[in-house]
Amino acid sequence: MHSTLVLSAALLTSLLGYARAQTLVNGQIFTNGLAIVDAPEPESPMHAGSVTQIAIDVSGDGKLDQSASIPGSDEATRFDSLEIYLVSYQTKQNLTVSSGPGLLTQEQGSTVKHWNYNVSTCIPPGSYNLTFYEASHINGQPYFSITPLPVIVMNDHQTGACSNDTNQLQAFPQKSSPYPQSPLLNGSAVSTQAFATATGSNSATLAFASPFGLTLLASLSLFLM
Ligand SMILES: *[C@@H]1O[C@H](CO)[C@@H](O)[C@H](O)[C@H]1NC(C)=O
Ligand SMILES: *[C@@H]1O[C@H](CO)[C@@H](O)[C@H](O)[C@H]1NC(C)=O
Ligand SMILES: *[C@@H]1O[C@H](CO)[C@@H](O)[C@H](O)[C@H]1NC(C)=O
Ligand SMILES: *[C@@H]1O[C@H](CO)[C@@H](O)[C@H](O)[C@H]1NC(C)=O
Ligand SMILES: *[C@@H]1O[C@H](CO)[C@@H](O)[C@H](O)[C@H]1NC(C)=O
Repeated sequence: MHSTLVLSAALLTSLLGYARAQTLVNGQIFTNGLAIVDAPEPESPMHAGSVTQIAIDVSGDGKLDQSASIPGSDEATRFDSLEIYLVSYQTKQNLTVSSGPGLLTQEQGSTVKHWNYNVSTCIPPGSYNLTFYEASHINGQPYFSITPLPVIVMNDHQTGACSNDTNQLQAFPQKSSPYPQSPLLNGSAVSTQAFATATGSNSATLAFASPFGLTLLASLSLFLM
């Protein structure tokens, strides 16, 4: 049953050419990696000149050992790196929010990492993704997931062009090799909730979006442990 489900998820992904990169459950965004984003919520406004707080649960909702969040750990399921960029194909920006191991190594002992991002007044207003790039190992296998979280930058008084923390905007879509779904959800229902309108549910929900509105119901067993 275990391997059948992995196979069907992979098959579904390749058939549709697209699978949801994240699942919203009770207000938390489960990436297809190990990171769980607590804040901000999808479609949140980010105000230029103010700080936006980003909060990420790195404990797999209590399923991972503390050491698994620290790069270099020898756990079979672990984070290798987690970086965040504020990117937009609309305004053609790619700004560093957090790079390097600082995010994962700070707040030792805390299951949630907080990152205060100063939204510079140089950032043009518009639609962006707060995009999480995670390299991790899951049961000893390496994965790389990219999770875009849509946000809106509000800026009535844009000052000059950004010169600090700017990166080249890479072509879309970017290459990734994610786990087929969140490895942390032990869900029972699979739905096709649209991300922006998803409200979460009481049970763990695994969402595969499809252009054809395909809905799959499956019982998933957990791959960790
Ligand atoms: C945000 O990411 C999604 C999915 O990767 C992409 O389709 C969309 O164009 C991105 N939005 C912007 C404003 O770049
Ligand atoms: C955020 O940026 C503003 C200017 O845009 C600056 O005055 C403020 O000190 C910065 N805050 C932090 C925490 O870097
Ligand atoms: C860029 O960074 C430098 C050094 O930290 C700082 O002095 C300068 O004000 C920054 N410029 C902008 C536009 O934020
Ligand atoms: C943004 O820049 C970073 C650092 O160069 C890179 O890793 C990331 O893939 C870039 N993202 C996009 C969408 O260009
Ligand atoms: C996952 O669900 C199965 C079947 O309901 C259950 O036997 C198992 O204990 C659950 N595992 C976890 C870690 O919750």
